[in-house]
Amino acid sequence: MHSADPDLAAAVAAILTHHRHDATRLVQILREVMQQRGYLPPATLTQIASALHLSRAHVEGVAGFYAFFSCHSQGRFRVLFSDNITDQMCGSHELQRRMLDAFRIELGEVSRDGLVSVGRTSCTGLCDQGPALLVNGRAIARLTPARIGALSALIRGGQPVTEWPENLFTIDSHIRRRDRLLSTPLLPGEGIRAAISRGRDATLAEIKRSDLRGRGGAGFATATKWDACQKAPGPTRFVVCNADEGEPGTFKDRELLTHHAQQVIEGMSVAAFVIGAQRGLIYLRGEYPFLIEPLEAVLAARRAQGLLGRAVAGAPDFDFDIELHVGAGAYVCGEESALLESLEGKRGIPRNRPPYPVTHGYQGKPTVVNNVETLLAAAHIAKQGGAWFRSVGTSKSAGTKILSISGDVAHPGTYEFPFGVSMRHILEEAGARDVQAVQVGGPSGVLLASHELERKLAFEDVPSAGAFMVFDRSRDILSVVDNFTRFFAHESCGFCTPCRVGTTLNQQIMGRVVSGHGSRRDVKDLIRVSRLLKTASHCGLGTTASNPITDALAKFRPSFDRRLASMDVLPAFDLDEALAPAREVTARDDAAAHFSEPETTS
Ligand SMILES: Cc1cc2nc3c(=O)[nH]c(=O)nc-3n(C[C@H](O)[C@H](O)[C@H](O)COP(=O)(O)O)c2cc1C
Ligand code: SF4
Repeated sequence: MHSADPDLAAAVAAILTHHRHDATRLVQILREVMQQRGYLPPATLTQIASALHLSRAHVEGVAGFYAFFSCHSQGRFRVLFSDNITDQMCGSHELQRRMLDAFRIELGEVSRDGLVSVGRTSCTGLCDQGPALLVNGRAIARLTPARIGALSALIRGGQPVTEWPENLFTIDSHIRRRDRLLSTPLLPGEGIRAAISRGRDATLAEIKRSDLRGRGGAGFATATKWDACQKAPGPTRFVVCNADEGEPGTFKDRELLTHHAQQVIEGMSVAAFVIGAQRGLIYLRGEYPFLIEPLEAVLAARRAQGLLGRAVAGAPDFDFDIELHVGAGAYVCGEESALLESLEGKRGIPRNRPPYPVTHGYQGKPTVVNNVETLLAAAHIAKQGGAWFRSVGTSKSAGTKILSISGDVAHPGTYEFPFGVSMRHILEEAGARDVQAVQVGGPSGVLLASHELERKLAFEDVPSAGAFMVFDRSRDILSVVDNFTRFFAHESCGFCTPCRVGTTLNQQIMGRVVSGHGSRRDVKDLIRVSRLLKTASHCGLGTTASNPITDALAKFRPSFDRRLASMDVLPAFDLDEALAPAREVTARDDAAAHFSEPETTS
């Protein structure tokens, strides 16, 4: 079936050819059509399905999964304000109002003339320079009323975003503290040459000696992961760099890929050499399109230097190359198995595990998935040796951790600290005052109160995937929790009942509490929903989605109690009853799908 618009059909055909009619590139193909057209018309979905030999339902399912795709026109200019709490703290809601008033529209609406729509998106990874927004996918930071006025004028003028002044799109860099990884030079090829001359097993032994643990959140031992992948049966293996960085408050991978991309790619090459991979994939979050060209340039330069492609660094049996994939606005795609699904051109639904990616990863083949920072560390370890890395940190947390610090601090930015540093020290260096709370590791991490500032940054005490958001005493902690709760409800992929329903209920109940209409019964329900999410969710998004609520209830209970309208009002609805339709749809009626334990009859 042909598109009603022959020009669009021809453009889509060219995109399909560029991607070799490869169905695993479906997310990339849809991204490019979005860029050209602003939405995905029905005829285009049919054209893509037929060209890739996929069902129309599959293509539509993928198109409907990712927040940055739309099957309806969102106007010639689609503006999405970053909605992290740190953006809000810098006044993003007031700026949104200004823009909405300028075009006489409401949030999520397209203007009558089809010119513009204004909406919200989860954190855009620019918390050190917020408030921020995306316009037709391009990021603009450091918003002020004057900037909003200028943007509104440009939109009204109708000039394509590609013709707007380039300085509008400048992303600042704030690396404020460098330690072992960020201050040690590593020239292109130095890590991989050292690995080749040392040999596969000896390089793996150095990674083991370093005690390097994954920096993406779970803290899994990198050497164990690489070893398991190396030993998995079959000739084909993959290395994946997880650059999805979707956790609100995290932006350190953006800085690492801006200033240390060579070294991250060096780390991917070392991993490939150790496990015997031929292909690597970088999964870059869709909010960072400004990194696509620079990353492609680094890959091209390495190919020209003989550091990617055939016989890497002169090693006759080592052929390895890397391709770039770009996400499309789905936090869950940072979860490694969802990321693999997305890389295969599917919806980012987390897989059942086991089996794990090390044996059944990309396209069912053994795959190592590592965070950007883990790969950067591996590249340095290949050159400097494990002992060099191990010599800083604590007994259970070797090396350093790179943090993204934002919120109420004088110097927001990226900081590298040795593990073991206290929260108080970090806060002092970042210029924090009058601290009420710190959210370490993003909404899925831990909320610390001011009496906990002697605690240490370490896997064994306060672990962090990178985010470090600071709230002073002027901030309303319930609004912070409310923001995080809405984030999880928005980002739940909807695959499993406890998370789909639980995150929505948390959002509704927190909304009531924060607006002063909650009751003591609501607080009890929050606790029950949280328990359900933690124990019955399919993936890490659901199991951690209640962390902000449980932490805040444990540490900031008076803030809740002060806000409750009446301590004894009965709830407006029955939570277990609210779950009934979801139980029916998913054919689940076990204890975990209920809010209260079913009564035993014995
Ligand atoms: C909902 C969710 C989102 C995640 N997002 C990321 C991410 O953006 N970047 C990342 O490296 N790991 C993320 N992870 C962790 C990955 O699943 C995985 O553990 C990690 O990429 C492994 O790399 P590492 O061993 O180097 O830490 C996420 C996990 C979950 C459950
Ligand atoms: S826990 Fe949430 S995000 Fe994870 S699979 Fe279930 S619905 Fe999806």
